[in-house]
Amino acid sequence: MSRKFEGGKLVVASHNAGKAREIRELLSAYNVEVLSATDLNLPEPEETGLTFIANAELKARAAATTSGIVALADDSGMSVNALNGAPGIYSARWAGPNKDFAFAMQRVADEMGNNPDRRAQFNCALSLCWPDGHCETFEGVLQGQLVTPPRGLKGFGYDPMFIPEGDIRTFGEIAHDEKQRMSHRAIAFHKLVAACFAP
Ligand code: IMP
Repeated sequence: MSRKFEGGKLVVASHNAGKAREIRELLSAYNVEVLSATDLNLPEPEETGLTFIANAELKARAAATTSGIVALADDSGMSVNALNGAPGIYSARWAGPNKDFAFAMQRVADEMGNNPDRRAQFNCALSLCWPDGHCETFEGVLQGQLVTPPRGLKGFGYDPMFIPEGDIRTFGEIAHDEKQRMSHRAIAFHKLVAACFAP
């Protein structure tokens, strides 16, 4: 039995304003006042975990224990079968300090070379932690295939090279709302809501 969120304040353990806004929208049906890590001036811990789940928990636990407020953190990335799961938890880091995803996608393409195995997956771990250190963590996985060169201008990160299973379009060619309904983040989020927010 998962621990339920009892209402009140929740801090999103991310300094990304977009993430806090997205989570506020997703939780608007529940009794939640969403704050961001920036609102509370929380430090950003180093992501030293070796899995998406470990990194999501590390971020949420640090925010909850420092602030005394229930905290939600996510960690996500793209894992390529032909690259033994890379870039995986290093997905953001492959784009370098300038967050250049054209560069990161080119690196994926170069490292895959002519390998016929084009399978990849997007992962998202979401962790909800309480100030006493208890965490409830959920993962969403979306399978797909990679194409090069990348196609489409929508989305972000590795979206233009990723075709979700059952589709022929890349996420760079799929409208934001449609992606939001099927994404790895949506899958993890539905599990979290069902376990910890729904009455
Ligand atoms: P995080 O913010 O540390 O979790 O880093 C996640 C990184 O994974 C992002 O910077 C993107 O490179 C990649 N990523 C995660 N989700 C997506 C997605 O939905 N589309 C494209 N790239 C993604």
